Amino acid sequence: MFHVAIIGCGGIAQVHAAVLHNLPDTELIACADIRPERAEAMAQKFGCRAYDSMDALLDAERPDSVHLCTPHYLHAPMAQKAARRGIAVFSEKPPVISREQWAMLEDAASRVPLGICFQNRYNPNAREAKRLIDEKVYGELLGARAFVTWKRELPYYRDSGWRGAWATEGGGVLINQSVHTLDLLVQLMGPPDTVEAHMANHHLKGGIEVEDTVEAYLVLGGRPALFYATTAYTQDAPVMIELHCERATLRLESDALEIRTQDGTERKTFRTDAALGKGYWGTGHTACIADFYDSIQNNRPFQNDLASVRGTADAMLRMYEEGRKTL
Ligand SMILES: NC(=O)c1ccc[n+]([C@@H]2O[C@H](COP(=O)([O-])OP(=O)(O)OC[C@H]3O[C@@H](n4cnc5c(N)ncnc54)[C@H](O)[C@@H]3O)[C@@H](O)[C@H]2O)c1
Repeated sequence: MFHVAIIGCGGIAQVHAAVLHNLPDTELIACADIRPERAEAMAQKFGCRAYDSMDALLDAERPDSVHLCTPHYLHAPMAQKAARRGIAVFSEKPPVISREQWAMLEDAASRVPLGICFQNRYNPNAREAKRLIDEKVYGELLGARAFVTWKRELPYYRDSGWRGAWATEGGGVLINQSVHTLDLLVQLMGPPDTVEAHMANHHLKGGIEVEDTVEAYLVLGGRPALFYATTAYTQDAPVMIELHCERATLRLESDALEIRTQDGTERKTFRTDAALGKGYWGTGHTACIADFYDSIQNNRPFQNDLASVRGTADAMLRMYEEGRKTL
């Protein structure tokens, strides 16, 4: 049985707690939040102990692992703190907000098992697309395009206490909402060769520091990928990723995979479990967290280990290095 603690008891932590509660080999023993009422509420709901800081929790408890569900800027330092005590780390995305933080995570990962929650890699349609690309079922992959067009208004940023600021969120639509899509592109295509990016703040100008829109021309694994993400739309439209192969175009949208060939279109839909949280968080948390603990139990590499997110983190940081010039 893994004894687990959750740090940060806000929105996504509720999904982690529910998954840990449902898995047979994990027990949530404690949680911490600087807003103590949030930790208390989680403790009451899931029958664990509540603390008002990570330090207080670590001084009193001996968890086998911590789940980091805190704001972006805290992931790497908290991972390092836990790892130095020999505690395994499962961190929400993004892994880092800067290159300095990457070194902290490398230090942490050299000491303990460390996983990053890019749960969409576990989506059945993404796995099937990866198999088709890796096995070259429709020939070579030539290029890709991806669109994330969602809606986020000022209260979403203002009320959180950490979103919308470079120091605490590390960026906007790229690092927060569309980093999952960037990660899938890197998984499907390969790490970044070149990165060109422009960023803008359209509908929340003056309200937030960070970008609400990013467009990029990336070369990933030697092939071009066109990337567009915004939170200035009027609804959370399904994310679209299109992969252009020699003999087919594959399109990922919601839980479907469409394969368009000269002979016609095949549409595969995959059964997915009901989302534990908001629909746009997807349904991959259970599979991702279960796989993390299974990998530790069976002493095998974890699919979402630090090495596996290096390309995504590098592409993202390079997009900010370029894109901030145009903001
Ligand atoms: N994988 C996904 O699909 C997904 C979905 C949503 C959020 N997330 C990620 O999860 C993280 C949290 O997002 P959220 O939407 O739950 O945010 P949130 O603001 O709802 O929750 C964050 C919590 O952390 C607490 N906190 C802040 N500083 C702390 C500290 N020093 N010690 C302990 N607790 C502290 C806050 O009080 C808050 O309760 C972010 O990194 C976000 O990107 C991932």
